[in-house]
Amino acid sequence: MRIAFCVIATGKYGRFVGPLWESAQRFFLAGHDLRLVLFSDAPPPVRCDWVAIAHRPWPGPTLYRYHTLLAAQGRLQPCDYVFYCDADMRFVAPVGEEVLGQRVAVLHPGFCGKPACEFTYERRPESRAYIPPGLGTHYYAGGFQGGRTDDYLAAAQAMRQAIDDDLRRDLVAIWHDESHWNRYCLDRPPTVVLPPEYCCPESWPMPGRKLLALDKNHAEIRSP
Ligand code: GAL
Ligand code: MN
Repeated sequence: MRIAFCVIATGKYGRFVGPLWESAQRFFLAGHDLRLVLFSDAPPPVRCDWVAIAHRPWPGPTLYRYHTLLAAQGRLQPCDYVFYCDADMRFVAPVGEEVLGQRVAVLHPGFCGKPACEFTYERRPESRAYIPPGLGTHYYAGGFQGGRTDDYLAAAQAMRQAIDDDLRRDLVAIWHDESHWNRYCLDRPPTVVLPPEYCCPESWPMPGRKLLALDKNHAEIRSP
Protein backbone atom coordinates (compact mmCIF):
# COMPACT_ATOMS: atom_id res chain seq x y z
CA MET A 1 0.00 0.00 0.00
CA ARG A 2 1.02 3.55 -0.63
CA ILE A 3 0.83 5.53 2.62
CA ALA A 4 1.13 9.29 3.04
CA PHE A 5 2.57 10.17 6.44
CA CYS A 6 1.71 13.84 6.97
CA VAL A 7 3.56 16.02 9.43
CA ILE A 8 3.13 19.76 10.01
CA ALA A 9 6.22 21.31 11.59
CA THR A 10 6.82 25.04 11.48
CA GLY A 11 8.95 27.23 13.74
CA LYS A 12 10.52 25.35 16.62
CA TYR A 13 8.64 22.16 15.78
CA GLY A 14 11.11 21.66 12.92
CA ARG A 15 13.49 20.01 15.39
CA PHE A 16 11.18 17.00 15.75
CA VAL A 17 11.02 16.02 12.08
CA GLY A 18 14.27 14.10 11.72
CA PRO A 19 13.86 11.85 14.77
CA LEU A 20 10.12 11.28 14.10
CA TRP A 21 10.71 10.23 10.51
CA GLU A 22 13.61 8.01 11.50
CA SER A 23 11.34 6.25 14.00
CA ALA A 24 8.49 5.98 11.49
CA GLN A 25 10.73 4.39 8.89
CA ARG A 26 11.83 1.86 11.44
CA PHE A 27 8.45 1.08 13.05
CA PHE A 28 5.46 2.36 11.07
CA LEU A 29 3.87 0.03 8.51
CA ALA A 30 7.11 -1.66 7.61
CA GLY A 31 6.94 -3.26 4.18
CA HIS A 32 4.57 -0.61 2.81
CA ASP A 33 5.45 2.31 0.59
CA LEU A 34 5.61 5.03 3.23
CA ARG A 35 6.05 8.63 2.11
CA LEU A 36 6.66 11.60 4.33
CA VAL A 37 4.63 14.62 3.29
CA LEU A 38 6.15 17.45 5.29
CA PHE A 39 4.46 20.83 5.67
CA SER A 40 7.09 23.22 6.98
CA ASP A 41 8.56 26.68 6.75
CA ALA A 42 12.16 25.50 6.48
CA PRO A 43 13.86 23.17 4.02
CA PRO A 44 13.34 19.58 5.15
CA PRO A 45 16.11 17.80 7.06
CA VAL A 46 15.25 14.50 5.34
CA ARG A 47 14.20 13.33 1.89
CA CYS A 48 10.46 13.83 1.56
CA ASP A 49 7.61 15.42 -0.33
CA TRP A 50 7.92 19.00 0.93
CA VAL A 51 5.06 21.47 1.03
CA ALA A 52 6.27 24.95 2.00
CA ILE A 53 3.88 26.73 4.37
CA ALA A 54 4.13 29.81 6.56
CA HIS A 55 4.47 29.61 10.32
CA ARG A 56 1.51 30.73 12.41
CA PRO A 57 1.51 31.37 16.13
CA TRP A 58 0.06 28.57 18.23
CA PRO A 59 -2.66 27.23 18.02
CA GLY A 60 -2.72 28.18 14.32
CA PRO A 61 -0.71 25.21 13.02
CA THR A 62 -3.00 22.70 14.71
CA LEU A 63 -6.29 24.59 14.25
CA TYR A 64 -5.63 25.02 10.53
CA ARG A 65 -4.23 21.53 10.01
CA TYR A 66 -7.11 20.44 7.76
CA HIS A 67 -6.79 23.57 5.64
CA THR A 68 -3.09 22.80 5.34
CA LEU A 69 -3.55 19.15 4.40
CA LEU A 70 -6.33 19.89 1.93
CA ALA A 71 -4.28 22.56 0.18
CA ALA A 72 -2.01 19.69 -0.88
CA GLN A 73 -4.69 17.08 -1.46
CA GLY A 74 -3.46 16.50 -5.00
CA ARG A 75 -0.31 14.99 -3.51
CA LEU A 76 -2.29 12.81 -1.13
CA GLN A 77 -4.84 11.44 -3.57
CA PRO A 78 -2.47 8.97 -5.27
CA CYS A 79 -1.96 7.28 -1.90
CA ASP A 80 -4.17 4.50 -0.54
CA TYR A 81 -4.06 5.76 3.04
CA VAL A 82 -3.31 9.09 4.67
CA PHE A 83 -2.11 9.46 8.25
CA TYR A 84 -1.59 12.68 10.12
CA CYS A 85 0.88 12.63 13.02
CA ASP A 86 1.84 15.50 15.32
CA ALA A 87 5.49 16.45 14.87
CA ASP A 88 6.31 16.00 18.55
CA MET A 89 5.82 12.24 18.50
CA ARG A 90 8.08 9.20 18.32
CA PHE A 91 7.44 5.56 17.37
CA VAL A 92 9.04 3.16 19.81
CA ALA A 93 7.59 -0.21 18.74
CA PRO A 94 6.25 -1.75 15.53
CA VAL A 95 2.90 -0.47 14.27
CA GLY A 96 1.38 -2.66 11.59
CA GLU A 97 -1.72 -3.18 9.50
CA GLU A 98 -3.98 -2.99 12.54
CA VAL A 99 -4.02 0.75 11.86
CA LEU A 100 -5.37 0.41 8.33
CA GLY A 101 -9.04 1.25 7.98
CA GLN A 102 -11.47 3.75 6.54
CA ARG A 103 -11.39 6.09 9.51
CA VAL A 104 -8.80 5.62 12.21
CA ALA A 105 -8.83 7.31 15.62
CA VAL A 106 -6.90 6.86 18.87
CA LEU A 107 -8.38 6.88 22.36
CA HIS A 108 -6.91 9.79 24.31
CA PRO A 109 -4.78 8.39 27.14
CA GLY A 110 -6.08 11.02 29.56
CA PHE A 111 -9.72 9.97 29.21
CA CYS A 112 -9.69 6.27 28.45
CA GLY A 113 -11.79 4.50 31.07
CA LYS A 114 -13.13 7.76 32.45
CA PRO A 115 -16.83 8.66 32.50
CA ALA A 116 -18.01 10.70 29.52
CA CYS A 117 -19.00 13.61 31.76
CA GLU A 118 -15.26 14.21 32.25
CA PHE A 119 -14.45 14.36 28.54
CA THR A 120 -13.20 17.75 27.38
CA TYR A 121 -15.60 17.94 24.44
CA GLU A 122 -16.65 21.40 23.25
CA ARG A 123 -19.67 22.22 25.40
CA ARG A 124 -20.77 25.55 23.93
CA PRO A 125 -23.80 24.94 21.71
CA GLU A 126 -22.69 27.84 19.47
CA SER A 127 -19.69 25.86 18.23
CA ARG A 128 -19.92 23.38 15.37
CA ALA A 129 -17.81 21.08 17.56
CA TYR A 130 -20.51 21.03 20.25
CA ILE A 131 -21.33 17.69 21.83
CA PRO A 132 -24.25 17.82 24.26
CA PRO A 133 -24.04 16.06 27.63
CA GLY A 134 -25.17 12.47 27.25
CA LEU A 135 -23.78 12.04 23.75
CA GLY A 136 -20.40 10.53 22.94
CA THR A 137 -18.76 7.45 24.40
CA HIS A 138 -15.10 7.99 23.55
CA TYR A 139 -12.68 10.90 23.67
CA TYR A 140 -10.19 10.76 20.84
CA ALA A 141 -6.73 12.30 20.69
CA GLY A 142 -5.93 14.60 17.80
CA GLY A 143 -2.23 13.71 17.61
CA PHE A 144 -2.53 10.67 15.38
CA GLN A 145 -5.34 9.95 12.96
CA GLY A 146 -5.96 8.86 9.42
CA GLY A 147 -7.71 6.46 7.16
CA ARG A 148 -8.40 5.51 3.58
CA THR A 149 -7.49 8.54 1.51
CA ASP A 150 -11.04 9.34 0.34
CA ASP A 151 -12.51 8.90 3.81
CA TYR A 152 -9.85 10.92 5.56
CA LEU A 153 -9.98 13.76 3.05
CA ALA A 154 -13.78 13.84 3.36
CA ALA A 155 -13.37 14.12 7.13
CA ALA A 156 -10.80 16.88 6.69
CA GLN A 157 -13.18 18.79 4.40
CA ALA A 158 -16.06 18.55 6.85
CA MET A 159 -13.86 19.70 9.74
CA ARG A 160 -12.32 22.54 7.73
CA GLN A 161 -15.82 23.80 7.04
CA ALA A 162 -16.89 23.51 10.66
CA ILE A 163 -13.74 25.31 11.86
CA ASP A 164 -14.32 28.09 9.31
CA ASP A 165 -17.95 28.41 10.42
CA ASP A 166 -16.76 28.80 13.99
CA LEU A 167 -14.08 31.35 13.04
CA ARG A 168 -16.62 33.45 11.16
CA ARG A 169 -18.40 33.76 14.48
CA ASP A 170 -15.16 34.37 16.42
CA LEU A 171 -15.25 30.93 17.99
CA VAL A 172 -12.36 28.55 18.51
CA ALA A 173 -13.30 25.21 20.02
CA ILE A 174 -11.81 24.38 23.39
CA TRP A 175 -9.25 21.88 22.05
CA HIS A 176 -9.11 23.34 18.55
CA ASP A 177 -9.04 20.69 15.80
CA GLU A 178 -9.29 17.91 18.43
CA SER A 179 -12.76 19.11 19.44
CA HIS A 180 -13.87 19.00 15.80
CA TRP A 181 -12.34 15.56 15.34
CA ASN A 182 -14.37 14.33 18.32
CA ARG A 183 -17.54 15.83 16.88
CA TYR A 184 -16.81 14.31 13.48
CA CYS A 185 -16.18 10.90 15.04
CA LEU A 186 -19.54 11.11 16.79
CA ASP A 187 -21.27 11.68 13.45
CA ARG A 188 -19.14 9.18 11.52
CA PRO A 189 -17.63 6.73 13.97
CA PRO A 190 -14.10 5.53 13.27
CA THR A 191 -13.86 2.05 11.80
CA VAL A 192 -10.61 1.47 13.69
CA VAL A 193 -10.32 2.64 17.29
CA LEU A 194 -6.76 2.35 18.51
CA PRO A 195 -5.92 2.12 22.21
CA PRO A 196 -3.97 4.90 23.97
CA GLU A 197 -0.68 3.05 23.37
CA TYR A 198 -0.81 4.83 19.99
CA CYS A 199 -0.58 8.28 21.57
CA CYS A 200 1.03 7.78 24.96
CA PRO A 201 2.70 10.62 26.86
CA GLU A 202 6.43 9.97 27.04
CA SER A 203 6.43 10.24 30.83
CA TRP A 204 3.67 7.62 31.36
CA PRO A 205 5.00 4.12 31.99
CA MET A 206 2.25 2.42 29.96
CA PRO A 207 3.22 -1.12 28.92
CA GLY A 208 3.12 -1.79 25.20
CA ARG A 209 3.59 1.82 24.17
CA LYS A 210 4.01 2.25 20.44
CA LEU A 211 3.77 5.95 19.67
CA LEU A 212 4.88 8.52 22.22
CA ALA A 213 3.68 12.10 22.58
CA LEU A 214 6.95 13.68 23.66
CA ASP A 215 7.24 15.64 26.87
CA LYS A 216 8.12 19.20 26.06
CA ASN A 217 8.17 22.67 27.50
CA HIS A 218 4.92 24.00 26.05
CA ALA A 219 5.66 27.64 26.86
CA GLU A 220 9.09 27.52 25.24
CA ILE A 221 8.09 25.68 22.10
CA ARG A 222 4.88 27.61 21.52
CA SER A 223 6.50 31.02 21.91
CA PRO A 224 7.13 32.71 18.56
C1 GAL B 1 -4.21 17.12 27.16
C2 GAL B 1 -3.41 17.23 25.88
C3 GAL B 1 -4.06 18.24 24.95
C4 GAL B 1 -5.53 17.88 24.77
C5 GAL B 1 -6.21 17.79 26.11
C6 GAL B 1 -7.67 17.46 26.00
O1 GAL B 1 -3.69 16.09 27.94
O2 GAL B 1 -2.11 17.66 26.17
O3 GAL B 1 -3.41 18.26 23.73
O4 GAL B 1 -5.64 16.67 24.08
O5 GAL B 1 -5.56 16.81 26.91
O6 GAL B 1 -8.29 17.58 27.24
MN1 MN C 1 1.35 17.09 20.12
